[in-house]
Amino acid sequence: MTQKLLFVCLGNICRSPAAENIMNHLIAREGLGEHFICDSAGTGGWHVGAPPDRRMRAAAKERGMDFVGSARQFQAIDLQEFDLILAMDRDNYRNILALDPQKKFADKVKMMCGYCETHSDKEVPDPYYGGADGFNYVIDLLFDACRGLLKSLKN
Ligand code: 4NP
Repeated sequence: MTQKLLFVCLGNICRSPAAENIMNHLIAREGLGEHFICDSAGTGGWHVGAPPDRRMRAAAKERGMDFVGSARQFQAIDLQEFDLILAMDRDNYRNILALDPQKKFADKVKMMCGYCETHSDKEVPDPYYGGADGFNYVIDLLFDACRGLLKSLKN
């Protein structure tokens, strides 16, 4: 069975593409590629078509990773299409569920940090208006959350 995972933030150029790329990295490392499909989207549409933010790509490059992708906006149909939707922060969570007024798909939508095993953060902080440290922190936090997420999905 293939599980479809969607990572969602605001712009789909910093946090959610990082989550998607890190998750794909962990999945590939474990040879589980045929079991998962990962994608990402933003609740806002300002950056549609853009690659991941160059500061996020630079932070990834320092760890030997290439973050790829093209931003797209989250749509109501994604609630049907995906098995699990991971929100980076509470605003993202609220904006995702705003497209599901009957709460038919609410069980599929989770907070990404709910899967963290070592960090106590409740949200993935938005690094967009900060410096390089913020991007590095987001990558560390997302590695933790993605490891926990993969562990939970393998069970
Ligand atoms: P992201 O970061 O939601 O992690 O992709 C942001 C990207 C762009 C903006 C805000 C946050 N923006 O305001 O354009």
